[in-house]
Amino acid sequence: MKISSHTVAGMLGSWQEGPGPAHQRLSDRLRLLVLDGRLSLGAALPSERDLAGALATSRTTVGAAYRTLVEHGYLATRSRTRATVRLPGDAPAERRVGASPAPLDLSVAAPSAPVEILHAAFATALERLPRHFERRGYDRYGITELREAVAHWYRRRGLPTTPDHIMITNGAQHALAVLARTLLSPRDRVVIDHPTYPHAIRTFLDVRARLLPVAMTPSGWDAAQLGEAARAAQLAYLIPDFHNPTGMSMPTSVRRGLRMSCPTVIDETMADLALDGVRPEPFAVHMPTAISVGSVSKSIWGGLRIGWIRATPSLLERAEQARLATDLGTPVVEQLATAALLNNRQTSRPEALRRLGERRDALRRALAEHLPHVHAPRPPGGMTLWATFPDPIGSRLAAIAPEHGVTIAAGPRFGIGGAFERNIRLPYTLPPDQLTQAVRSLARAHQALTRGATGSHTPAPVA
Ligand SMILES: Cc1ncc(COP(=O)(O)O)c(C=O)c1O
Repeated sequence: MKISSHTVAGMLGSWQEGPGPAHQRLSDRLRLLVLDGRLSLGAALPSERDLAGALATSRTTVGAAYRTLVEHGYLATRSRTRATVRLPGDAPAERRVGASPAPLDLSVAAPSAPVEILHAAFATALERLPRHFERRGYDRYGITELREAVAHWYRRRGLPTTPDHIMITNGAQHALAVLARTLLSPRDRVVIDHPTYPHAIRTFLDVRARLLPVAMTPSGWDAAQLGEAARAAQLAYLIPDFHNPTGMSMPTSVRRGLRMSCPTVIDETMADLALDGVRPEPFAVHMPTAISVGSVSKSIWGGLRIGWIRATPSLLERAEQARLATDLGTPVVEQLATAALLNNRQTSRPEALRRLGERRDALRRALAEHLPHVHAPRPPGGMTLWATFPDPIGSRLAAIAPEHGVTIAAGPRFGIGGAFERNIRLPYTLPPDQLTQAVRSLARAHQALTRGATGSHTPAPVA
């Protein structure tokens, strides 16, 4: 894909500002655009002359910047063709000739890393690290700085919280696993939203719990049915904020009316992803006994592997004992970096949310154009559409889709007993042009399926 000089100039923004020679500032900025995923791999950059014109700078400056990027492995050049984006360590393009391109990955709902803010957060973390050198680094509750930053994240949103209500974990998934070990015994019953987050299903089944699915309605949650199911259960697990996979958010009236007689784990992993400006209040504002689970995986980056549990100190003591069997704490540098990110309010960056909202709308437009019979409501937040086909083809479509250039997660992964065969989940974390390409691939797969193809591809992991 060729990228015009004006597009690149727009992405570069105010690259002229800052210390150092111009060519270095330019190559640094271009490198960040590559690392950020905004200049996608294989994209063909404008010629030196065109980019110099669009940036009102000299061709020598652009030439030097391109040469630096080539030297460091971020650009590949061949005579008389445009320079293309690559990553250090990637096989050169010519060696890949003939290989079919990797399918676009719509099986995982997770953002790429926001490179600039991560760099800054890790620089701060390294400055603060020496304060921890006298300690041993094994801390099953997490470091105080991060526990306080998370507590503050709740207080800012109206829920009084102190660091002793917080345990830092290695992501929300780990928090769920620790809570399942702490709160469940074999054959206990767990109420779940239906559909729900697949790895939560797996976590509860792993401790040999039995699941009590409560169907979500077209408008979301049925408080009466949830309350009824809770009476027969030892635990409930709900995702009221921009639910995975549907993206729905539980209305305040339902939050207020919910009466759960069993311990209730509230997964707030998506809470910061309010795309239409309405951010839900923390669930425990309405249900003080709620055990909340949070994470920065969706609001910042999954590679940080930082999440948390908010609960009473006595429950956290039990969780700390249960945790002993799985791990002995969370890496300190990542905790320090996350504390810096939370304190700088980087979990809900207006620019990132605006971009995600545009991607949501681009994906829906592409579906309307290429798969018009698919129903995919516009979610108020989160990062996925829950798409419904008229026929039960989700699993077969997911099986053959990679042959047509895209991997997706089929609906049954999000439920139990083979439910949701008419559904697929579609994340909108990729740039709009890739989303459109993915939907075209999906439409081709759908066409092949309706002509009778079967698939043999192994399904990809889901997040
Ligand atoms: C609802 C929900 N909870 C938890 C997780 C796991 O998050 P983490 O990366 O923090 O372990 C995910 C990831 O997709 C999720 O969607």
